[in-house]
Amino acid sequence: MPAVPPNVRGAVITGWGTALPPQVVTNHDLEKTIDTSHDWIVDRTGIHERRVGGSTVGLSVESGRAALEMSGVDLLSIDALILATTTPDRTVPASAPAVQTQLGLQCGAFDLNAACSGFVYGLVQAHGMIAMGAEKVLVIGTDTLARITDWSDRNTAILFADGSAAVVLEAVEGPGQLLGWDLDADGTAEKFLYAEVGGFLQMDGKEVFRKAVRIMVDSATKSMQHAGVTADDIALVVPHQANIRIIQASLDRLGMSIDKTAVVLHRTGNTSAASIPLALADALDHRRVKKGDLVLLVGFGAGMTSASAVIRWGGAEADAPDAPVLS
Ligand code: ACO
Repeated sequence: MPAVPPNVRGAVITGWGTALPPQVVTNHDLEKTIDTSHDWIVDRTGIHERRVGGSTVGLSVESGRAALEMSGVDLLSIDALILATTTPDRTVPASAPAVQTQLGLQCGAFDLNAACSGFVYGLVQAHGMIAMGAEKVLVIGTDTLARITDWSDRNTAILFADGSAAVVLEAVEGPGQLLGWDLDADGTAEKFLYAEVGGFLQMDGKEVFRKAVRIMVDSATKSMQHAGVTADDIALVVPHQANIRIIQASLDRLGMSIDKTAVVLHRTGNTSAASIPLALADALDHRRVKKGDLVLLVGFGAGMTSASAVIRWGGAEADAPDAPVLS
């Protein structure tokens, strides 16, 4: 993958929003239905509870609306809606057009399926659209994995959950926030995590774990190289929220600290395409990012896909619009 060429029109995030369904399923709830324990799940994954319920369209409308309200943009000025999801509500049509209509947008709208890497795929795609003339793009990551999870299978039921998060991306004069990115996929590994049409998720957890650490490290390293930065320059890492041990093992290999990492999986579980933007939004809400900070987004997912991006919060130019959070 190339580095971001000089002189392309840049973009910055100007709003974000999240949506989690109200129903909480704790590890203790799972103890009642499958042969597992709270302590085992926490020790092996870091997850304490997760949210379950809602539809992909419904959650996307909620997070998308919150992001649009924060950015304050005119709804009719949004040029495109990208909905990253691997769990659309129907096979046909995509879920994005219904989200577009319910949000009051008039723009192109499409689903993008790259599993848990989907949000970063969508973010890179949105930057590309802005480089080609779009002004504003809404990027949403939503998954409702509970519907394709076999709740009697302790191999997967402890991990997966539902959620959504969105960002508004707006064009700026001069260099924007995206400094480097990397997208990849390895179809030979799809057998380790898949669901047939109408079926439940099937997973070889050990193989996924092994490959996940390697591809997270590979992808993050490439993005940092393309951005011309090192691990020491990164103020915040926002990894895919699959398993705290995968995150920790990847950070160790990258020479990065968990203190500089956004983690929400203890309360969200693995929400696939929603996981990275949920963790990013949490860090932003807690004022962990200030203008000029370098943020590394990095994820992996079924496919097996991987995606990462290095962004400079607020953009690279002094005259770029202030980011909404300036702690
Ligand atoms: N509860 C209690 N005990 C369990 C459970 C459970 N849910 N599952 C397995 N065990 C037991 C096993 O039987 C085994 O017992 P034994 O030692 O007596 O034989 C022991 O715990 C260890 O089992 P492992 O399968 O080796 O457990 P592991 O440490 O590999 O953890 C896990 C399993 C959590 C699934 C891990 O492999 C993992 O997180 N893999 C990555 C999964 C992932 O990230 N998937 C999402 C990808 S992203 C996307 O696209 C959706």
